Amino acid sequence: MEGSKTNYVDNTHQFFSVGLTIRQKEPKNLEAPFDRIDSYLTPTELFYIRSHFPIPALDRASYQLRIDGAVRSPLALSYEELRSMPSETRVATLECAGNSRVFLVPQVQGAQWELGAVSNAEWTGVPLRALLERAGLAEDACEIVLEGADRGMPKEEPMPPIPISYAWSLPRAKALRSEVLIAYQMNGRQLPRDHGFPVRAIVPGHYGMASVKWLTGIQAVREPFHGYWQTTDYAYWVMMDGKPVRRPLGEMQLKSQIARPRVCETLAPNRIYTISGAAWAGETDVTEIEVSTDGGRTWTRAEFVDPVRRHAWRRWKLEWMTPQEPGQYTLLSRAWDAAGVVQPDKHDRNYGTYVINHPLPIEVFIDES
Ligand code: MTE
Repeated sequence: MEGSKTNYVDNTHQFFSVGLTIRQKEPKNLEAPFDRIDSYLTPTELFYIRSHFPIPALDRASYQLRIDGAVRSPLALSYEELRSMPSETRVATLECAGNSRVFLVPQVQGAQWELGAVSNAEWTGVPLRALLERAGLAEDACEIVLEGADRGMPKEEPMPPIPISYAWSLPRAKALRSEVLIAYQMNGRQLPRDHGFPVRAIVPGHYGMASVKWLTGIQAVREPFHGYWQTTDYAYWVMMDGKPVRRPLGEMQLKSQIARPRVCETLAPNRIYTISGAAWAGETDVTEIEVSTDGGRTWTRAEFVDPVRRHAWRRWKLEWMTPQEPGQYTLLSRAWDAAGVVQPDKHDRNYGTYVINHPLPIEVFIDES
């Protein structure tokens, strides 16, 4: 079933429409159809799913969210109590750090995500900051650990000695930013089970791994948290005084992708074809987008379809007069941010099998069909 397109029905009778691609059936890892980004918000049933363990059984009636650790007044909130607090609604793009892994040469281990481990949705919930204020966050708390109710044994070495939960810590400064939500709605409706029902974190601007689903614990800590996911899995190498050290992944890096044409699509010669895609960044804005139809020799500025909105993608398009000459052509896109930074030419190996944000080659064929 790897990589097949299907109507997907799970054992809770939740129905996914045609279009998600199965990368792994259990736990569920499904890819969104990036070539169908016709709407700014990804329809919930087409939003990618990345889960490390089976979905935990949680219900609204017995749900409790603990907020404890380095706080003056630890507390536990029920679902209804959380819902009665002032809420905010924000659009945020989530991208899995392993998105586009299939483009790495030579091929690497891990789910062979193509272009669809990224999606954009509107999230509603309570700012994490409000919860931390309510609990009385200690001055010397340096990180906030978010813990999900799902647990199991991870697959990658070095394996922990006992089954673990999915947990991720945020630096204090990010946790206190107004955009970080403890969300209970996605695109205006209750969160689906696959996306963290009843409550999940949404950490706009950071790779998807920080947006902990099935959230049941928020713990303030006075020492950096060195859990499995942010040391063994979603971590990278950074040089410190000439020595490589491990750091957890965080901010999403500037990236753009071509949605259409699709990989290996055949286009008619000498016709106007609209090349389209999307671009996004972490803690900055995407301000310019360029497209090459000759493998990167020359670049043409494309136009944005969506306005600038921090933490959300901007779709873009370019009208291309396809060549008269039949043959194979390589299309690329590259985005620039507000600081004048452009996407890197190559994948940075310090990121291992993550952060694949160089211009991704889309090969197409020009031929009379
Ligand atoms: N939260 C829990 N509890 N368990 C998980 O396996 N996966 C993370 C994150 N939150 C995960 C989690 C990863 S790696 C990503 S990319 C996002 O959830 C994906 O969110 P989605 O499935 O709603 O798209």
